[in-house]
Amino acid sequence: MQQLLEGEKELIIEKVGEILGKHGSDRENLIPILQEVQDSLGYLPGLSMEIIAEAMDIPSVDVFGLTTFYNQFRLNPPGKHQIKICMGTACYMVGGRIALESFERHLKIGEGETTSDRKYSLETVACVGCCAIAPVVVVNEDIEGKVTPTRVDGLMLAFEADEQEEEQKEAEENEEKGD
Ligand code: FES
Repeated sequence: MQQLLEGEKELIIEKVGEILGKHGSDRENLIPILQEVQDSLGYLPGLSMEIIAEAMDIPSVDVFGLTTFYNQFRLNPPGKHQIKICMGTACYMVGGRIALESFERHLKIGEGETTSDRKYSLETVACVGCCAIAPVVVVNEDIEGKVTPTRVDGLMLAFEADEQEEEQKEAEENEEKGD
């Protein structure tokens, strides 16, 4: 299960409490409550499901089971960079899986997971409608076509360069503030 960030536990307790307060703890409200928690937090943290299960007096394993059954629920936090690999037939046939494996190797996470620093999340999606440039990867909102392992290397280098630039900017800003 994904580790919580600093202050995230308190935020989850607060948001889930608000949502339960609004909907009540009747079991028939379970799905709308889970949807609203996901909308509010960007995903369904394990802690949120435990709180909901306790409030509804049902085993938390039942809530987990339900969320894994419906694929609308996201159990891992979205990364700052969301990488979605198309696994539609056209992409799959010409290297979609190879692109996925290249990202997995770089990020050391599997499909459906998020890096512990929450910078990257990796998922697969159905056809995104750009089959002519298969295999396709959607990076944040941008479409990347004809993605080979070399292109994955290039994308990762670009991300790292952006991150370094941001860190440097932040450090400079903090320095200025400290003056
Ligand atoms: S199958 Fe990937 S864009 Fe259509």
